[in-house]
Amino acid sequence: MHDQHRAATCLDNLQRPLRDLRVSVTDRCNLRCTYCMPGEVFGREFVFLRHADLLSFEEIVRAARQCIALGVRKIRLSGGEPLLRHGIARLVEMLAGLHDSDGKPIELTMTSNGTLLAKKARALKDAGLMRLNISLDALDENIFRHMSGSSVLPGIVLEGIAAAQSVGLTPVKVNAVIKRGINESEILPLIRHFRHTGVIMRFIEYMDVGNTNGWRLDDVVTSSETLARIDHEYPLAPIGSHAQNEVAERWKFQDGGGEIGVISSVTQAFCHTCSRLRLSTDGKLYTCLFATEGVDLRAILRAQPAQSGDDAALRQRIAATWRCRTDRYSQLRHEMTEKLPGRIEMSYIGG
Ligand code: GTP
Ligand code: 5AD
Ligand code: SF4
Ligand code: SF4
Repeated sequence: MHDQHRAATCLDNLQRPLRDLRVSVTDRCNLRCTYCMPGEVFGREFVFLRHADLLSFEEIVRAARQCIALGVRKIRLSGGEPLLRHGIARLVEMLAGLHDSDGKPIELTMTSNGTLLAKKARALKDAGLMRLNISLDALDENIFRHMSGSSVLPGIVLEGIAAAQSVGLTPVKVNAVIKRGINESEILPLIRHFRHTGVIMRFIEYMDVGNTNGWRLDDVVTSSETLARIDHEYPLAPIGSHAQNEVAERWKFQDGGGEIGVISSVTQAFCHTCSRLRLSTDGKLYTCLFATEGVDLRAILRAQPAQSGDDAALRQRIAATWRCRTDRYSQLRHEMTEKLPGRIEMSYIGG
């Protein structure tokens, strides 16, 4: 596979380099999106991780440092809702200080639901966060409440988006997961709202991730259908160039209204270029969003305190995990007849 980076390359079993690290900093969220943490499952009785089980900021940075030594160039903080993690700006600051082997800063980004952003955007920017992706599935209040399983209003998220733009956490990308018959009517309102604003609106095919969302193929609105609806009202043209490992297919409005994207993990799997490694809230490494088992890095981190050495054991464990990797779940999905048992949830692994 062609790869622009020459320094530090760790290839998996299918010759894919390790380039991106997605870190889940909390398994908690203040929303209960039906496709991610449905309220019936993640109710009052649901037991989230205890604080002692979470990786500390220092532990996250130690793991990130070794991933960078193996080729990681981009780190994304996610969750759950990452802004619920106490002191998150300090973690951003610690990670923003990391550089790759060429001396370039690591691309540091976050995926958030935006509800707590209005107050925190400035601190995140000052700490060194580069940009933000924000989830927003509807502008209509009733549809938003239904999709997010909460009483929060979409206006709060819009305030968060505005704050991110005003402090320069740009380009802001807005993610909408589209579910058949639930929020497909919001595709055009979202487009109209964000055209000409600099925000990159992206539509995501609803995925069968986790065990709890009751996914059915019939609920998926395909990217080609979404694009056709938009193109009918606002003609689109493809934007050819994009980074090798980017998940979104990019399009622009022919009238200069800006850029949009579609993420087609169901109908057009992008496993062949997948360079993403995931670190869960409690320190397990997962080589696929759909993985059922992770590698416990926390045990290594806690067995060997930072000051005791150069973390070579940690690096070797990460490298060995990546080298064995054969995952290509989305590509294999069609061949699978049944859901795998024991799949883990996206809020825990870091969407
Ligand atoms: P940038 O392109 O760097 O802005 O980020 P991103 O699109 O990789 O990150 P974001 O968290 O916004 O992800 C958007 C959506 O893409 C996620 O919600 C998932 O639905 C999907 N996605 C991201 N990574 C993967 C992946 O590795 N596998 C699959 N199947 N879907 C993914
Ligand atoms: N299918 C597609 N995207 C999902 N997300 C969460 N669960 C799913 C799913 N089942 C997305 C959210 C957010 C990102 C972190 O993951 O919309 O943008
Ligand atoms: Fe929370 Fe994001 Fe999952 Fe919605 S998709 S429940 S906002 S983590
Ligand atoms: Fe990567 Fe797994 Fe998603 Fe395929 S299904 S793109 S291998 S995370």
